[in-house]
Amino acid sequence: MEVIIKPGYDQLSAAAAQQIAEVLNRKPNAVLGLATGSTPLGVYKELVRMHREESLDFSRCTTFNLDEYVGLPVTHDQSYHYFMHENFFKHVNVPEQNIHVPSGTTSNFPAFCDWYEQRIEECGGIDVQILGIGSDGHIAFNEPTSSLSSRTRLKTLAKVTIDDNARFFDKAEDVPIYAITMGVGTILEADEIILLANGKGKADAIAQAVEGPVSSMITASALQMHPYTKFYIDQDAASNLKMREYYEWIQMKKPGAPEA
Ligand code: PGA
Repeated sequence: MEVIIKPGYDQLSAAAAQQIAEVLNRKPNAVLGLATGSTPLGVYKELVRMHREESLDFSRCTTFNLDEYVGLPVTHDQSYHYFMHENFFKHVNVPEQNIHVPSGTTSNFPAFCDWYEQRIEECGGIDVQILGIGSDGHIAFNEPTSSLSSRTRLKTLAKVTIDDNARFFDKAEDVPIYAITMGVGTILEADEIILLANGKGKADAIAQAVEGPVSSMITASALQMHPYTKFYIDQDAASNLKMREYYEWIQMKKPGAPEA
């Protein structure tokens, strides 16, 4: 696990986008695991810029999104289908048939979840997975006490997640209470994982995920079991880390790092 502390949101977004671009340049038919929420917006903006200005090519890649609210039609402006289309897909060249976002309106959730897992496998597994983190330490919608080997399934959202997400809806009552989400076990199978976090509101969750015990109470802590995870965080999100100086020292001393 690598903790990369950047001065601010733009820098962490640019660094994470660079890692994704490197995967795509190395493997043009890479499978990308994508996330929604406010945090990854900077990464999408940077990838769109790279597509426009540096010809970063998505024409052979396949994407899988982490999650979707149950009950929102794809045209709803808070659905994750809509979010991904508006903030990413309509600006780059991922072929429509290569895009996968879980269905929040299927009539058979168990069958859909099995199909989603199978589809990831058929496509060769996820090469690089982007994650945000909830203030309760969740990744995707794997709320506290989710099994650390869970697979794609329906979840009931925690109260704190509903409250956190209420800012996007007209009324708190409009926030869906169920979601379909990849499991922690699904996420851990990605070859590379990028977790993004900025702001004081994430400082506690980051400290527990990076330095706390591995626990289903903080599902992001399961990333400690993953061999190739990078946390890209800003100063505020890093503010509760006990070993912060050490993480900065590692980055400074990395081969190829600029002289401090
Ligand atoms: P946010 O959500 O990026 O909007 O803070 C993160 C999450 O809940 O995973």
